[in-house]
Amino acid sequence: MNNIDNDGSVVALVPAAGRGVRLGASAPKAFVAVGGTPMVRLAVDGLIASGAVDRIIVMVPAEMVESAVALLTPATDSAGDMVQVVVGGAERTDSVRAGIAAAPDASYFLVHDAARALTPPRLIAEVADELRAGHAAVVPALPVVDTIKSVDALGIVTGTPDRSGLRAIQTPQGFAADLLRTAYAADVQATDDAGLVELLGTQVHTIPGDAQAFKITTQLDLMLAETLLTRLSSGYATIARTS
Ligand code: C5P
Repeated sequence: MNNIDNDGSVVALVPAAGRGVRLGASAPKAFVAVGGTPMVRLAVDGLIASGAVDRIIVMVPAEMVESAVALLTPATDSAGDMVQVVVGGAERTDSVRAGIAAAPDASYFLVHDAARALTPPRLIAEVADELRAGHAAVVPALPVVDTIKSVDALGIVTGTPDRSGLRAIQTPQGFAADLLRTAYAADVQATDDAGLVELLGTQVHTIPGDAQAFKITTQLDLMLAETLLTRLSSGYATIARTS
């Protein structure tokens, strides 16, 4: 538990500087359109719609800064000067570090991948609520449906962890700002931010994730996202929540 700061500002950091080679698109992944709208714009719109975020910092490749500012300007129109674009880094960790440096005033951070473009605003608000309730690190988690095995360099199975104790972790991941700053002060790399916080020995609290917060990584994910967005925008109810 951290000291509760109900008035503290919530800053969302949106890493969008990945190349997205697994998607096979010519544009950086966050700028690939889903239903005609680039993923990063959908992700920013979701953060604004949550009503839980005071400021949004989007980290993009250096050559995309100008187009990102133009793309996110409509979002800015409806929300004052809420959205800021900064240059990301070579690895995701470097991009998040650049975002942290741009927000010395933050009390809480929500780190949210642009590639989780269809994350329900409700899930974003729930993570922020848990932070304000006193948890220093909060992540959305879903049960794992596949059996997971560890393998060695030759692909030989070395173990089968008990699936009931495993979770797939999504974003937004929420942190008391000073905790995330400390976690990133060291020169380290990780595929998620909570992993760095765990290294400090801090407890990471899970809340039920949402299937709709899936990460758009492959062409198959893109097809799923297109279908889902069409159904959502034509008034279908959101898909049933998995817990
Ligand atoms: O590669 P992966 O799918 O794990 O990337 C997750 C998110 O991190 C994506 O939104 C991607 O744009 C972002 N990223 C970044 N800077 C990098 C690499 C990835 O902001 N250097």
